[in-house]
Amino acid sequence: MKISGTTQLACLLGHPVSHSFSPYIHNYLAEKCGLDMRYVCFDVEDEQVEAAVKGIRALGIVGSNVTIPYKIKVMDYLDEIDPNAAIIGAVNTIKNENGKLIGYNTDGVGFVKSVIEAGHTLKGKTVMVLGAGGASRAITVELAAAGVKKLLICNNTLAKAEQLSAQIKEHFAEVSIQIGLLNITEADLQGVDFLINTTPVGMSKQKALCPINETIQPPKGLVVCDIVYTPHDTKLLLWAKVNGLQVVHGIGMLINQAVHSFYLWTGKEVAAYEDILALLVEQGVIDK
Ligand SMILES: NC(=O)c1ccc[n+]([C@@H]2O[C@H](COP(=O)([O-])OP(=O)(O)OC[C@H]3O[C@@H](n4cnc5c(N)ncnc54)[C@H](OP(=O)(O)O)[C@@H]3O)[C@@H](O)[C@H]2O)c1
Repeated sequence: MKISGTTQLACLLGHPVSHSFSPYIHNYLAEKCGLDMRYVCFDVEDEQVEAAVKGIRALGIVGSNVTIPYKIKVMDYLDEIDPNAAIIGAVNTIKNENGKLIGYNTDGVGFVKSVIEAGHTLKGKTVMVLGAGGASRAITVELAAAGVKKLLICNNTLAKAEQLSAQIKEHFAEVSIQIGLLNITEADLQGVDFLINTTPVGMSKQKALCPINETIQPPKGLVVCDIVYTPHDTKLLLWAKVNGLQVVHGIGMLINQAVHSFYLWTGKEVAAYEDILALLVEQGVIDK
């Protein structure tokens, strides 16, 4: 990996960042495209966030990812926010367009792409989403933008689901939205085309847990998606497989959100899903 006087830079701003695997993905993509660009992580203290964002402009950094805890805070320092990112209310990607800093959110785009790449269509479909946190916001906004007919948003705290529902209705009046709690029954799943878990239930230390009752017999043709990617096959996805359903793994969203950020910065659309998956397995990020 050569670094010269012309090498361009992309980066991650967050705190902490040492666990990030984004450098593996973006440096791989840069090399695959033959770009003289490198990606590094910056661990930024809270009081330095504004200076760090201004630094993107000052140093001519091509673009940046933004991670916890600054996805909302950075919005105050940008010149423009993509309309869907504005509805989501968070930015995970900044593009430096000749000194103008534009904020995007590629999480929901990455999720939608992972579903489409698995051979499914979302337009006109009924989708049940478990959870109403940050990832759910990004996903539900992009599902609405992709033309789903109906969204059923189920959450621990009903008020959060209600708030999210109101925001989506305001911008996507054509989408029918219902809200509910997380105690899903067999009857609730009737007529549902996609079930998506956006809660952390099933992740790492909670890997023995499933966000729905595993004795439920799902309707035929239901597609089950989990955005939790450690473990690769969560309890929810195992339940789906046992019941003969198609699944979409969380790693797809993770890879595609990065690929879309890279596209925003460089204009290069790279089909590298399998290569990046292999890279992440090699780096021990996932247990496939
Ligand atoms: N694959 C990817 O690329 C990707 C991207 C982003 C996030 N994720 C994963 O998605 C998950 C959620 O992330 P997030 O940023 O949306 O988190 P978040 O903003 O904290 O939201 C979490 C949501 O899950 C609910 N929840 C939390 N603990 C729960 C429990 N024990 N039982 C039932 N519901 C529970 C919360 O409901 P209440 O607030 O009402 O409690 C909230 O709606 C994490 O596991 C994260 O790793 C994956």
